[in-house]
This record gives sequence, structure tokens and C-alpha cells, in this order.
Amino acid sequence: MSQKTRKILVTSALPYANGPIHLGHLVEYIQTDIWVRFQKLQGHECYYVCADDAHGTPIMLRAQNEGITPEALIARVHQEHTADFADFHIGFDNYYTTHSPENRQLAQEIFLKLKDAGFVFKKTIRQLYDPEQNMFLPDRFIKGTCPKCKAPDQYGDNCEACGATYSPTELIDPYSAISGAQPVEKETEHYFFDLPKFTDFLQKWTQAGHLQPEVANKLQEWFAAGLQPWDITRDAPYFGFPIPGTQDKYFYVWMDAPIGYMASFKNLCAKLGLDFDQWWRADSQAELIHFIGKDIIYFHALFWPAMLHGAGLRTPTRINAHGFLTVDGQKMSKSRGTFIMARTYLDHLDPEYLRYYFAAKLTGRVDDIDLNLEDFAQRVNADLVNKVVNLASRNAGFIKKRFGGKLAEQWSEEGHALYQDFVAARAPIAEKFENRDFNGAMRQIMALADRANEYVDAKAPWVLAKEKDQEAQLHEVVSVSINLFRVLMTYLAPVVPAMAEKTATFLNINNWRWSEIDTPLMAHTINPFKPLMTRVEMDKVNRMIEASKQHLQPKQRTASKQTDTGEWEPLAPEITIDDFAKVDLRVARIIRAEAVPEAKKLLKLTLDLGFETRTVFAGIKSAYSPEQLEGKLVVMVANLKPRKMRFGISEGMVLAGQDGTLSLIQPERDLKPGSKVS
Ligand code: 2FM
Ligand code: ZN
Repeated sequence: MSQKTRKILVTSALPYANGPIHLGHLVEYIQTDIWVRFQKLQGHECYYVCADDAHGTPIMLRAQNEGITPEALIARVHQEHTADFADFHIGFDNYYTTHSPENRQLAQEIFLKLKDAGFVFKKTIRQLYDPEQNMFLPDRFIKGTCPKCKAPDQYGDNCEACGATYSPTELIDPYSAISGAQPVEKETEHYFFDLPKFTDFLQKWTQAGHLQPEVANKLQEWFAAGLQPWDITRDAPYFGFPIPGTQDKYFYVWMDAPIGYMASFKNLCAKLGLDFDQWWRADSQAELIHFIGKDIIYFHALFWPAMLHGAGLRTPTRINAHGFLTVDGQKMSKSRGTFIMARTYLDHLDPEYLRYYFAAKLTGRVDDIDLNLEDFAQRVNADLVNKVVNLASRNAGFIKKRFGGKLAEQWSEEGHALYQDFVAARAPIAEKFENRDFNGAMRQIMALADRANEYVDAKAPWVLAKEKDQEAQLHEVVSVSINLFRVLMTYLAPVVPAMAEKTATFLNINNWRWSEIDTPLMAHTINPFKPLMTRVEMDKVNRMIEASKQHLQPKQRTASKQTDTGEWEPLAPEITIDDFAKVDLRVARIIRAEAVPEAKKLLKLTLDLGFETRTVFAGIKSAYSPEQLEGKLVVMVANLKPRKMRFGISEGMVLAGQDGTLSLIQPERDLKPGSKVS
């Protein structure tokens, strides 16, 4: 294959330095890594850089909560991320951090260039401020009652109950999610990046083939809504880089994060002696390819090219967005055990199963992909183990036992023709890899694997082996088969690099360049076969799910405390608002309370529900005497199916909290019996 060598710089989105890598993240790193390995095996000069995204309020607060410095937190997380990525065979050429001298310098330089060019302006804004923590509050750290539907405890920018969007200053009874204090409005001067000035440039740029068609379409909606200036400032205290010329202003994390791509590459250039400017100046001939998730398109397809262009630098060649990961058709869930951490997966399963499975699912589109656990096991076993590994194992023994480990010196026309068919598939398979249609590539490779196995079945080397005069024929069949296996592994090498490495030892070859298959291995000595991959066992998959459930329990927000053990009780599985709406809660007045002499814990309550009277047996005898209760308002589940108890029928349930002591839940104001509670 004679092809011009391309210069390609590739990135994946930078993961935040405040939490572990999970399988959702890995879709992207595996997708990018396969693409990069593919490019390298074509002989291109390709570098893959990434870094931890180390700045911002959540990281600062997390460090504070842990009682350590942000620097210590990001150093620890950097180690964890690096180990997770290495174990999934993500072959970064550099994995850095945004909290680096290179990034500080580049961020400040780019800011100053933008400012000098008139793309930055200052404006005084009013923002909510936490007077206890002495800090301005980002939207997600302000909570309060939704101004529209009055749902309590909603975040500062949108309501999860009714979907309304608003500004945090519109919240009713806002409070700081950090200290609980009531925020006050305060003025502060911020720098804005003047994105609207780039409208014309961006409109052209986003239609010029740098984006997937569905992404370019989506952007049209944003243009129609009108681009807005972007606030790139955060006030101290903030973990980030100071804005030049200010005392207590920092760059917003999203300003220096993409510059972190450049900084990581700059750090690599110093190690390898590469010319950084050649890759980043406005007329650079090198390709710059970003892989991202669909949730951060706005930053990469609008802010980022505008910033680069405004600062006189090159813009990205391609932005490749992918969808989200679902597990068994649903959003990943901590309670179901499908929110799986990279490390938990690695504790139970081979990373290459997942690499292959994701490859089999990924296309060049932005669709979500599903990890169906049964299908995962079945697919990996059927394809990689049964079709590919078996092809080697069923032929290798003959080479070793009958031919001293040496492949045949010559083949018939038929053998050559079949081999050439496999080599001819290289161009269409390469095109699929190039376009990130890994699903299409895997299907074509597996169709070839089927053909190779059909060839073995038809030639039946185990029969030939029993016939004395079929020695040459046997030698050819098993040698051709091993060569077909080598071609398949050449195509699979970007996907399963560890298996490819073991295979290289077995085949006694030293690289997986795709051009190498032009020449088959003739009269070549191979090594004894060792198992290349074992089957996926469903048992291990199930254990991983179990471990994922346990893994997250201590970190869950908790509803009630079991004071006898001091342990927090885990939250019940998540429900939707519709599930909750099924429970009809009403205010009721206790009109009579009587002890049930035969029952140690029960009181018999007669409840006035406004429109009817109910009898409820409540387990509250230890906390209340009957005379304390008469006249009190309580909250009851009014549509609970009546339950027959030993002492009568209980027609509902009253709500009580418990932290060792029982306490009935009462409306804070006097409400009419029968009023709805929600
Ligand atoms: O969304 C995220 O996880 C960000 N940390 C991604 C940053 S990508 C780049 F711009 F730095
Ligand atoms: Zn609402």
C-alpha cells in the first residue's frame, strides 16, 4: 500500500479529576484508541493525547471535604485514571493534566491574544453569593423551590419535576447546596468571550465537513437561537488559573480544558523533539481530530474553533461525537449495578471483551450504544473465541507435530486465490475503520472468519492427517489457514492489541502493519500455540454486577439511619415521578387512638379524612400514648390496599420517621383533613 503519510493529532475528551473512570467513559477512549491504533498501523505519524480535567468548583469542594489540597486530590486521581486506561490498553502517547505549566502559559497567551483582538469584554453581573462560605455559587450549587411548579429542592438552572429552565435568582427560597445558607445577590465584574462576533465564521465552519451531518444540523438550531457571549470568569476561591491582570479572577474550567489538548501535546513535543507550532499554526497541514461525547458539542464545535480562530491558530479538522452508553437498554444505574467502574470491570473480566464488543456496536453516527450483558458474552464467544481463536488452535497442532513448526513453502493456486481474497478485503475494511464504522468492519472481518473456517471444514485436515499420501495437501491447508488467521488478526489488531501481541509471539512476527500481509508467511517457523483468549463466563459478568452494587452503596445519598448499627440504610431503587404519583398522600386528623392490648407495638387509630373515616393500625405504641394523639394532624397513604390484620382491617398507613425514636410526620400548618400531600 503506497499512501502518503499523514500527520494526525488525536484527542479524547478530558475526564474530570474528581471521580473514577466508568464504562460510559470507556466508549470514547476505546473508540479513539482503536482509531489511533488503526492509523499507526497504516504507517501514519499519529499522536494520541489526553489529560485530566483538573480545575473547577466541584474539584475544589471535593478536596475540601476530604481535607486535602486540590493538588493532592488531582495527583491521586491522575494515578487511578492512568492505571485504568493502561489496563484497558488505551495507548495514549501522553496523558497529562490541565493543571500544568504548559496549560497555564497557553491559556493566558490565548486569552491575551483574544483580548487584544477585541474578542473579550468586561461586564458587571449580579450573581448569588454564599455569605457563609464567602463564595459565589455556580448554578448547580444553588437549590430552591421551582418558580413554576413549586417543586422543592430543585437546582439553580432547571427543574427536574416540570422541566422549566430559569435563572437561579428566580428560585423561591434559594439556599446554598454547600452550606445551606440563604444566598445574597452580589455584583462582580466578569470577562466574556464575544462569541456572537464569530457567527459568520462559525456558520461557514460548521458546514464545511468538520462535523457529522446530524451534528451540523443540530447547530443550526443554536444559530437560529442566536449565539451568546460566554462568561469565562470565576471569582476566587476557585481552583484554576488566574486571569492575567486581575487579583481574584480565574478562568472558568471550560476555558482552559480544551487548551489542555494543546498543552498535553506541547508536553509530548518536548519529550519527542517535535515542532509544536508546525501542528498548531493557522496554516498547519497536520490533522487535528477530537473525539467527544454528544453532550459537549457546544464547547467543541462553537467555543473552541472560535477561540482558536480568534487567537490566530488552526481549527480542528474533525470533531467526532458519539452517543451515550446504556446497559441492558436502560440508563446506567447505581442501584441495578449497571453503573460499572473501569476497575470493577477489570477485577472480573478481560478488557478486550469490552473493546471488541464496543467495536462491534460503534458506528460513525451519534447514536447511543447498548451494552446488553447476555449479548456481550454471546457475541464475544461466538466471534472472537469460536471463529478467530479456534481457527488458529485447530490448525496449529498439525504445524507443530507434523511439520516441525514450519509453514509450507508453496501452495496451490487455490490457496493463493483464497489468501488474495482476504488481502483484497483490506481496502474496504480500512475505509470502515477510517470512517469509524467499526461495526461494519467487524462484520466484514467475521464474514472472512466464517469463510476461513468453511475452508478448514471442507478440507478436513484431521482426515488428511490420517492419509499417508496427503502430507503436502495437509501442509498446505493448515499453512493457508494460519495465514488467513494472520490476516484476520491484522485487521483486528487495533481492537484487541493484547491478543495481537500474544499472536505475534505465536506467529513469530514482529509487527502488525497492514502492508505486511502483501506477503504471506511461507516456509516460516512459528511457535507453539498458547490460548489467546478464554470464553466469557456469565458467572463473572453477574459477579461484576453484584460488585458494582456494593461498590456504590456507601457513597449513596441516604434516607434513614439504622441507629443500632450506625449504618446508613441504602436508598431504595430509583423511581420516576409517575411511580411516585401513584401514592396518594393525604392529611388526616386522628379522632381517636386506642391501645390494642394484645399487640406490643400497635395503636388503633381512627382517622378523619374529610370525606370519610378510616381505621389504621400503626406501630407507634412505643413512642406515643393514645391521649397524646387525639386531635393531631398526620400524613397518611390513603390509597394503600386494605390489609387484614389479626385485630381488624387496616385501611391505610400513617407516615413516621425514625432515627431510633419514632416521630409522626405532621403538616407544619393546619391543613384541612383530606388535603393532598405531594
Ligand atoms: O465533560 C467533561 O467530562 C469535561 N471534563 C470534558 C472536557 S473536554 C476538553 F474540552 F477538555
Ligand atoms: Zn418545576
